[in-house]
Amino acid sequence: MEPIQYMRYALTLAKKGRGTTSPNPMVGAVLLKDGKIVGRGFHSRKGEPHAEHMAIKEAGSMARNATLFVSLEPCVHFGATPPCVDTIIREGIRKVFIATPDPNPIVNGRGIKKLSEAGVDVEVGLCEREAIELNEIYNKFITTKEPFVILKAAITLDGKIATGTCQSKWITGEEGRRFVHRLRASVDAVLVGINTIFVDDPLLTTRLTRGKSPKRIVLDSDFRIPGDARVLGEGCIVATTSSQKRRINAEVWQLDGDEMNRVDIGALLREAGRRNITSILVEGGRDVYTSFLKKRLVDKFYVFIGAKIFGESGIPSVGDLGIRSLEDALDVKYTRVKKVGGDVLITGYPHF
Ligand SMILES: NC(=O)c1ccc[n+]([C@@H]2O[C@H](COP(=O)([O-])OP(=O)(O)OC[C@H]3O[C@@H](n4cnc5c(N)ncnc54)[C@H](OP(=O)(O)O)[C@@H]3O)[C@@H](O)[C@H]2O)c1
Repeated sequence: MEPIQYMRYALTLAKKGRGTTSPNPMVGAVLLKDGKIVGRGFHSRKGEPHAEHMAIKEAGSMARNATLFVSLEPCVHFGATPPCVDTIIREGIRKVFIATPDPNPIVNGRGIKKLSEAGVDVEVGLCEREAIELNEIYNKFITTKEPFVILKAAITLDGKIATGTCQSKWITGEEGRRFVHRLRASVDAVLVGINTIFVDDPLLTTRLTRGKSPKRIVLDSDFRIPGDARVLGEGCIVATTSSQKRRINAEVWQLDGDEMNRVDIGALLREAGRRNITSILVEGGRDVYTSFLKKRLVDKFYVFIGAKIFGESGIPSVGDLGIRSLEDALDVKYTRVKKVGGDVLITGYPHF
């Protein structure tokens, strides 16, 4: 097998930590000795061993003179676990392939430097693009202290998110909805506007797949959420500008208002970051999508196009963004277009 295949295997192992490692990155490691894999590991959650430690532990004495493939630069600092770099050096690993440097300012390049200085042969950049994409949430959070924002919408072929009578269940089929539940399991929080609570009364939990349910944030400036809304309960956060005190089964964040006296989403992202929420899936509705786009606060798009047309009376997916000429249009770079059941899923990144 070629080195690239071992690194791909390390990346596959890393993915086992999806949804559970936050605020830490997903990392996978493979140890190779005399053409045989003698150790493998992945980081499963904060406080648990790092991938390199697991792989080295499995290999035992076979780690000496072995080659390590690791999807992220090994750490140099004492966190919840001791520095991986020291263990790699102590165990006599001869060569280390690193997919990508760790953007964490307290690591960034130092792990690579320390290994090289100790005489370990280090190669950086194998499968780098895949490794960066895998940890896109972590990469943003660790450098900005704000969550990675994913806008997810289900629209009709003519760009509507609901009928004129506010019905949107369901624009997409079962497979698309299962994908959304997998997405929920992979993020720290989902977010909707209060109108979506009034109209759809969603649970916003992970049910159609295994995995944890994220926190559920409701933008509700005037604190109007009904006491029996299904979204309430453990893990629900109501973000409001109101100082009103009400006993409700949710955490309440009182935040600054924006220019329209609604919850300031910049302030919300900063507050979420302070609380180690590293990713937010914005699930609608139109006004909320509009706010995030107006403020250019979207990092990634998942847009499902259902095989339906609602016509003029339907609710458009996005409100007025003040765009009058083509040059002002928001550009998106599509990175994947895929058929999911009978629907189309477009994955993209903002180019604005
Ligand atoms: N197809 C889909 O993917 C999808 C997904 C979700 C929803 N929907 C549909 O969308 C419709 C609801 O959309 P909507 O546009 O009427 O309402 P919405 O976006 O769900 O909620 C908007 C409300 O959120 C509150 N809010 C607080 N801070 C805000 C901020 N910074 N920016 C924007 N809103 C803020 C405002 O009420 P306050 O001023 O009272 O705070 C605002 O009126 C429903 O028909 C629902 O079924 C479709």
